[in-house]
Amino acid sequence: MENQKILKGAIVGFGFISSKGHMPAYADRFKNLRDVEIIAICDICPERISDVPDGVRFYSDYQELLAKEIDGLDFLDVSTHAADHYKIAKMGLELGLHVLCEKPLTTSIAEAKDLIQTAITCKRVLFPCHNYKHAPVVNAIREVVESGKIGKVKAITLNTFRNTHAIGTKEWMPDWRRHKEYSGGGIAMDHGSHSLYLTFEWLGGYPKSVTASSQNFSFPKYDTEDNFSAVYEFESGFANVHLSWTAGVRKVIYTLQGEKGAITVDDDQVQLAILHSDENESSSHKAMWNNEFYSVTSDWMDSSHVSWFNSMFDKFKTAIDQNDFENKEIMDAYFCIQSIMKAYESIENNSIKLSLENNFPRI
Ligand SMILES: NC(=O)c1ccc[n+]([C@@H]2O[C@H](COP(=O)([O-])OP(=O)(O)OC[C@H]3O[C@@H](n4cnc5c(N)ncnc54)[C@H](O)[C@@H]3O)[C@@H](O)[C@H]2O)c1
Repeated sequence: MENQKILKGAIVGFGFISSKGHMPAYADRFKNLRDVEIIAICDICPERISDVPDGVRFYSDYQELLAKEIDGLDFLDVSTHAADHYKIAKMGLELGLHVLCEKPLTTSIAEAKDLIQTAITCKRVLFPCHNYKHAPVVNAIREVVESGKIGKVKAITLNTFRNTHAIGTKEWMPDWRRHKEYSGGGIAMDHGSHSLYLTFEWLGGYPKSVTASSQNFSFPKYDTEDNFSAVYEFESGFANVHLSWTAGVRKVIYTLQGEKGAITVDDDQVQLAILHSDENESSSHKAMWNNEFYSVTSDWMDSSHVSWFNSMFDKFKTAIDQNDFENKEIMDAYFCIQSIMKAYESIENNSIKLSLENNFPRI
């Protein structure tokens, strides 16, 4: 620990997630592990300086931050609204920095492709904040799936219920998620990545097709959808993704059905049902389930998800240590964007079924 290199970083966009989630986790790591230190922060709102820790330099223009701080930096943490991720991350990569980027990576397929190609060309790690993979209850699901207890996963449902869209920092534009110009889309663009990268993991691949539908209960006040439903077909099965900002409740309910059993997750509560057949029954093969119930505390209500940050940052660090420029996480981010954009295309075309590529297209 004494001689290890301290990764020096700068944050661009110091609103809710970076001030309440990322920065406290970085400060904690600096104190306890001494492997990362934030030396500069940028936010276009000068008022955001009020949350900047002592000793960290503050800028209101990311280009100025990069010009002045580049020699002392190893990585950039991009935590602005979605539509600005691409240009800031691209500049960081081209200047030789590794980039940790909040989801969604970009708001178009072309931008995602270009950003990943830039990272590969510049030999820098581009890494998305796919933090739901690090929720304790998701780790518990992973253990069950990997143990083979429920067999090969064939069907999953991911329901994410919210009582409002997430509200951004009051000093800037709290409702930016409801304006397409800033968000690139509604709840599918904002939250879809979390559901999608979990489907990729649980179904072991990327989707082949999508059929989608959406509603905007707040039209014409806002121009982005607040409810979204899509079916994604995979080689091994299918996933049903439902997202709502108008559900009157904040919770996730995930179900996974495998060949030998099923898992249901309701926030922290897990039900594991293992299928067996009672051979003594006269009717051939009567299905029987052995149920197990347990709870895995995961802090779902804390939307900063600060407690999930550390293990995600460990993976970013490992990718840097291993020069893993085409890391699995960034490929997942590409397929998240493709899956979201193709769902939007399906919606615009009367919910027709559309095919998705499941190879990363090289230039
Ligand atoms: N992974 C998660 O669980 C999670 C949770 C919340 C938010 N997020 C993501 O984090 C990002 C930010 O969301 P938020 O809720 O913190 O929003 P926010 O509105 O609270 O913060 C965004 C900040 O970026 C600043 N900003 C905007 N444009 C800028 C620019 N060009 N240069 C510098 N600063 C700029 C704004 O002033 C604001 O302070 C989004 O991509 C969002 O999807 C992820």
